[in-house]
Amino acid sequence: MERLDKILANTGRWSRKEARLLIRAGRVQAAGRTARAPEEKYDLDTPFLVDGEPLSGERLVYLMLHKPAGLLSATEDPRQATVLDLLPPHLRRVGLFPVGRLDKDTEGLLLLTNDGPLAHRLLSPRHHVDKTYLVRADGPFTAEDVAAFAGGLTLEDGQTCLPARLEPLAEPGEALITLQEGKFHQIKRMTAARGKQVLYLKRLTMGPLRLDGELVPGAWRPLRGEEREALGLKG
Ligand code: URA
Repeated sequence: MERLDKILANTGRWSRKEARLLIRAGRVQAAGRTARAPEEKYDLDTPFLVDGEPLSGERLVYLMLHKPAGLLSATEDPRQATVLDLLPPHLRRVGLFPVGRLDKDTEGLLLLTNDGPLAHRLLSPRHHVDKTYLVRADGPFTAEDVAAFAGGLTLEDGQTCLPARLEPLAEPGEALITLQEGKFHQIKRMTAARGKQVLYLKRLTMGPLRLDGELVPGAWRPLRGEEREALGLKG
């Protein structure tokens, strides 16, 4: 037996708080009757309905994670810990994967989902989705660097990058960099092409999603209704 708000939150679709609101609003049915209190306890195989829709079955799940440094952006690895190791067991079994890779030493916003078409939309350069990073480098960014980023940098292997926005911050060596693509180690290699080394890197945004300042590194939460809407998702 488990509390109803916990059962709902364990699907990854709602936070505990959102689950309580749904229950109190009379939108949840358990075993054919409208549930009233989050603390009601049920067997996990009870049939549940939310807004008339069954809770069980294939579900699309969307989680915002504050990736800490030190974990791989992968679903599994024989030797090293991955971002999925931060999740409870029931959420490791629903086919979640990270949308785009952050390097092991990079922190920040990572969307975990099992929605393949959404991942494709967010990652394909054709869709022009902005991703903004906070960068700290071992030397100051100059007006020439800003122009070079805007013009489309050529990397050491001859690949050219799409135009990118570099906005130097007041602290010397710090900047915001906005890309619409995701080549391997792209920010580090673009910065290297301008004669500097990245010391710290954190992703702040991806399209309409902004890293929740309340999430400490390693913490995650389901996307909120307004975030799902901003991504063009229903429900
Ligand atoms: N660019 C990088 O160099 N590393 C990341 O993790 C993301 C963008």
